[in-house]
Amino acid sequence: MALNGFDNSDLKLIIFGGKGGVGKTSCAIATAIKLSENFKTLLISTDPAHSLSDSLEQSIGFSVQKVAGHENLDAIEVDAEIALTKFKSDHHRELKKLLETSSNLDNQDIDEMLTLSIPGIDEVMSFKAIIDFIEEGNYEKYVVDTAPTGHALRLISSPKMLDDWIKVAVKLRWKYRYMITSFSGSYQMDEVDSLLLSLKKTVKRIENILKNQTKCEFMPVCIPEAMAIAETERLLTDLGKSEIIPRQIIVNHVMVSDECGFCQKRKAGQSKYLQQIGETFAHLNKVEVPVFAEEIKGVESLNQLKTFLFGVHE
Ligand SMILES: Nc1ncnc2c1ncn2[C@@H]1O[C@H](COP(=O)(O)OP(=O)(O)O)[C@@H](O)[C@H]1O
Ligand SMILES: [Mg+2]
Repeated sequence: MALNGFDNSDLKLIIFGGKGGVGKTSCAIATAIKLSENFKTLLISTDPAHSLSDSLEQSIGFSVQKVAGHENLDAIEVDAEIALTKFKSDHHRELKKLLETSSNLDNQDIDEMLTLSIPGIDEVMSFKAIIDFIEEGNYEKYVVDTAPTGHALRLISSPKMLDDWIKVAVKLRWKYRYMITSFSGSYQMDEVDSLLLSLKKTVKRIENILKNQTKCEFMPVCIPEAMAIAETERLLTDLGKSEIIPRQIIVNHVMVSDECGFCQKRKAGQSKYLQQIGETFAHLNKVEVPVFAEEIKGVESLNQLKTFLFGVHE
């Protein structure tokens, strides 16, 4: 079987997720290379460990750059921490005013509060960067490589976390508005309201694309091992809660050779897990990738991986 449906021109965003070390980065790059043959493609890494550079054997940084040897492929690393720092410095005044007008905190408490993180905000800010790219529309496909499961889930659930925070902030603001209106008879929207409104819009924009099955596809990567299967099951359950339903799954590291005793043993050991994957994820299109003799690094092995993911002729 091969991965399918990525050619659909409505599909813009493909997000790779799964346990650490199962092959997310390798598969995301191979997919981006494949897509770039027909579509202008941007490969985005949100993994703080940013491993695109190692795998592509080319330095990729925090600004968009061409991937050598692939005409239609650009890549960028998005850093949640940098995005958060920028957000805080851009909106320091509004955040301070929000705390001043909706709490009894003194100046020192407020400064301390401002050093704390707003739940979900860093991931939302890196997701916002992805959505901004999509809305700029310079590319036809956006392929996202994420950090291990916990991170992908945080990324997915960040709009909800931030939305909950906005709701609390809005509630506190209502009290302030009520007070102002009682004293002066009217209330003018201020910069804090504008910030909350724009955050709310960002949350909506992210949710709109994440939950749109024609525009966005989540691509789980798994290996035939007990812990990876259990983690993939949890991942799919949690994605389901956010109304994100994957269609297919990559099963990486499959032992195909039985030429030596070691290979035979590995292969036999994997067979029950492959069967379990077949049963547990019966509803998903499964694409098996064999374990390579060497790590997947550089053009040649990434191209080989691409062939396993998409078949020769697709
Ligand atoms: N099918 C495979 N055969 C051999 N090595 C692989 C295979 N898939 C991935 N690798 C290697 O395993 C390591 C982890 O892969 P990577 O794609 O970085 O995983 P993740 O992003 O999920 O942590 C890398 O060194 C990569 O080259
Ligand atoms: Mg990775």
